[in-house]
Amino acid sequence: MSEFNGRTILVTGASGGIGGETVRQLVHAGAHVIASGRDGDKLAELAAETGCDTVVFDLESEESIKEAITGLDLYGVVNCGGWGGEIATPMDTDIDVFDTVMRINARGSLLVTKYASREMIRLGKGGAIVNVSSQASLVALEGHISYGSSKAALDNITRVSALELGGYGIRVNSVNPTVVMTPMSAWYWGRPDIEGPFLEAMPLHKWATEADIAGPIVFLLSDKASMITGVSLPIDGGYSSR
Ligand SMILES: NC(=O)c1ccc[n+]([C@@H]2O[C@H](COP(=O)([O-])OP(=O)(O)OC[C@H]3O[C@@H](n4cnc5c(N)ncnc54)[C@H](OP(=O)(O)O)[C@@H]3O)[C@@H](O)[C@H]2O)c1
Repeated sequence: MSEFNGRTILVTGASGGIGGETVRQLVHAGAHVIASGRDGDKLAELAAETGCDTVVFDLESEESIKEAITGLDLYGVVNCGGWGGEIATPMDTDIDVFDTVMRINARGSLLVTKYASREMIRLGKGGAIVNVSSQASLVALEGHISYGSSKAALDNITRVSALELGGYGIRVNSVNPTVVMTPMSAWYWGRPDIEGPFLEAMPLHKWATEADIAGPIVFLLSDKASMITGVSLPIDGGYSSR
């Protein structure tokens, strides 16, 4: 019997780097995956490659999230859709960027949790939710006032959701990755003046790969993690442990 035995798991941000790899690993582990994002062409490519199903919705729209999720027989969710926002300090932040990054990363993930958890409760088989947070919620990173705040809010959504959904046998956890060189991060973290000192300070001295993040996400969704809920798991090469 496969690890997920055909359980249905919704993955947002599946048209991106970490989400796409998560879909591949979940399908490989025997899950029925519904991959979502805004870019239908990229999702169609992923569906052709993996056999996943797809659904297009915008994390900024409650109506679009509700319409897409209501009625799905879900066992699990990966809230991976997100936006990097800006590199700015509290002194020069563009507050419209703050609003948008909060709307996508925190509000959007909460809305997916809202409508998905209703379906998971209706099915009555328990389940698991993994929120893709960031190292930026655990430690202060220069230039990360908006993004770090949105992921700190997401970590709180994780803890409160774990408390409220535990009675239904639904576990909720965060993973908090360091940098993966996807388009979201490469323009900033790939700069030698940024990359050099950061990697020097990190115990493992290397960036993460998409697979380094997807593996722990799959673990937290699986029954092997049946006693783990409400945690924010750093996948950061030890950076936040210093
Ligand atoms: N890369 C890193 O270094 C890193 C580190 C820590 C945490 N993370 C987190 O990991 C997650 C995935 O990041 P990634 O690096 O894989 O980024 P990515 O390749 O840029 O993918 C971002 C994903 O989010 C989706 N998305 C963005 N805005 C959306 C919206 N309004 N509605 C629906 N979907 C939306 C995108 O969908 P479309 O392309 O279809 O619009 C895409 O699938 C994010 O939550 C990010 O914050 C990334």
